[in-house]
Amino acid sequence: MTQGPIGIFDSGYGGLTVFKEIQKKLPQYDYIYLGDNARVPYGTRSFETVYEYTKECVYKLFDLGCNLVILACNTASAKALRTIQQNDLPEGKKVLGVIRPTTESINDYTKNNNVGILATQGTVLSESYKIEINKFFPNINVFQHACPLWVPLVENNEITSTAAHDIVEKDIQRLFAQSTAIDTIVLACTHYPLLLPVIKEYVPSHVTVLSQGQLVANKLEDYLIRHPEVESKCSTNASLTFYTTDDAKSFEENTSIFYGQLVKASHIEV
Ligand code: DGL
Repeated sequence: MTQGPIGIFDSGYGGLTVFKEIQKKLPQYDYIYLGDNARVPYGTRSFETVYEYTKECVYKLFDLGCNLVILACNTASAKALRTIQQNDLPEGKKVLGVIRPTTESINDYTKNNNVGILATQGTVLSESYKIEINKFFPNINVFQHACPLWVPLVENNEITSTAAHDIVEKDIQRLFAQSTAIDTIVLACTHYPLLLPVIKEYVPSHVTVLSQGQLVANKLEDYLIRHPEVESKCSTNASLTFYTTDDAKSFEENTSIFYGQLVKASHIEV
């Protein structure tokens, strides 16, 4: 099989927070980022819809030559990854998500086995974090809270507004109302790291707040070392290509808050 870029998929811009860390850690590979901005958000959609949309985008990345695709979207990882892995993979292609690498690392952070998960409605309802954490660490208590207003806050660049403070404070209170023992919080949505400075204002100082990007990048590096049969199919010319299912100009204008730099993007139909 010919080598190809690593595909990074997200429902929109948010996956760029994960991609930024992957690219920093593993700059040698070629990457294609695909954001399904025309159909974002995924977090409020049904299992069937998230599965169909995700599958279409993953197949597009396969068509573009990717042999390995990372679902950088928590909602897609929660609702579509397992089914795609079981039913839809052409020979020699691989798809990985962001939930497993995050949950595998959680024991390194919690000292008292009480972990809070902040995520979209879809991710919370799927219970994926609870299931995956308890598979590895049955003693960890997992408390989940959905924050449906956080993605729109970030998408509308309202990350430091009064509204952001009010909404974040209320959601953090609701999480801690489930247990004051929580000592580690996972920001289990691609957009939430952008609200970190506000989140930290309302979280007790002894609590660790984890963004996923670095965890996912570290685990991907390990994975590629442990799976030379996958690594050898990833091309290494350090090229970056960005596609969006919506307007390329808007994508280019909005990427910098998520990715930290300007990019050149093209529109693509899936
Ligand atoms: N990328 C999604 C996630 O990480 C957030 C945005 C959406 O709802 O599509 O869950």
